[in-house]
Formats: sequence, C-alpha cells, structure tokens
Amino acid sequence: MSHAEDHEGTRRDFLYYATAGAGAVTAGAAVWPLVDQMNPSADVSALSSIRVDISGVEVGTQLTVKWLGKPVFIRRRTAEEIEAARAVSLDDLEIDKMAQNRNDMTLDASDENRALDEAGEWLVMIGVCTHLGCVPIGDGAGDFGGWFCPCHGSHYDTSGRIRKGPAPENLWVPVAAFEGDELVLG
Ligand code: FES
Repeated sequence: MSHAEDHEGTRRDFLYYATAGAGAVTAGAAVWPLVDQMNPSADVSALSSIRVDISGVEVGTQLTVKWLGKPVFIRRRTAEEIEAARAVSLDDLEIDKMAQNRNDMTLDASDENRALDEAGEWLVMIGVCTHLGCVPIGDGAGDFGGWFCPCHGSHYDTSGRIRKGPAPENLWVPVAAFEGDELVLG
C-alpha cells in the first residue's frame, strides 16, 4: 500500500475529477464499460491503489469517486438501510447469491459479506450496472430502497444486490480496506 502514497500529490486533482463525475451520474447519461480489471496483477494493483478521505461522509450519504475509469460508490448507510439489508435471506436473492466481493470471491451474498465493516455502516461498490454498464441512481432509488438503473430498469437493494430487472449480478465490491480515516481502494 506504500505505493499509494506516491499518488498523494495527485489526490486533489483526482477528487476534482470525481466531483465532475458525480455530475455525470446525476444526468444518468454516463455509460461505463464493464471490463473485468478488478483483479490485476500485484504490481499493477499497487500502482492503481488510491486513498480517499472519508472522514466527511455523513450517515445517509454517498461519496462517488472515480477509480480505474469507473465510479465507485462509498455509502455510509443509515441504521434502517443496514437493517433492511440484513433482514434479507439468501433465499430471497433469486438472481445472484454471490457477494461479488473482489476481496474474496467465494463469499455468499449476505450483507455481512458485502459491507466493509462489521457493523455494516460502510458499503463500497463499483457504481456500474452489471447489465450493460450504466451508472445506477442511488439515495434509496428503486423498489428495494437502494439503487436503480434507469437504462433498462434494474433494481438493487440497500446492499447493492440485484433484486429485479435484467442485470445478472450484484454490484461489485472492489478490493478495499480502511486505514484510519482513509479508504484504500486496490
Ligand atoms: S445497464 Fe442497467 S439495466 Fe441495463
């Protein structure tokens, strides 16, 4: 992770572009190619690590940053969102029962296996619909109170799991870890 510090000087630029990206998300027009580059070789992974200061993210809000050319949703969930996500049993997940967590691809899709912390407050996901790559709308959108993809009507729950619509997989959880007030992606 020490390589990430090499990028510290570019972080301000990065966050600037991240803000610009959020505008595109709101417009609903951005389409991101869904390419499996979330498991690069170790040297590439080190070079592509970034740090995001999450100390200012309030409960019930989502920070969107751009990483490896894709939006990453960093959501600090409310108690209600966590409760709703954890009340869902695997039997309720008819489309994808895997966590799609790039930290461990063997995990099932329980909310505990997708949230970044034990209490479930932090949910970090690649903000790319697993159908054809549009950026889903958040803030409780859709029939399951999580995210909704307006392109062809995919509904994701408060854990980012696909519940209805054409998308075949849950929103991907990237390789991520906390270091103090910072989230390290990659
Ligand atoms: S791209 Fe999201 S539903 Fe088709």
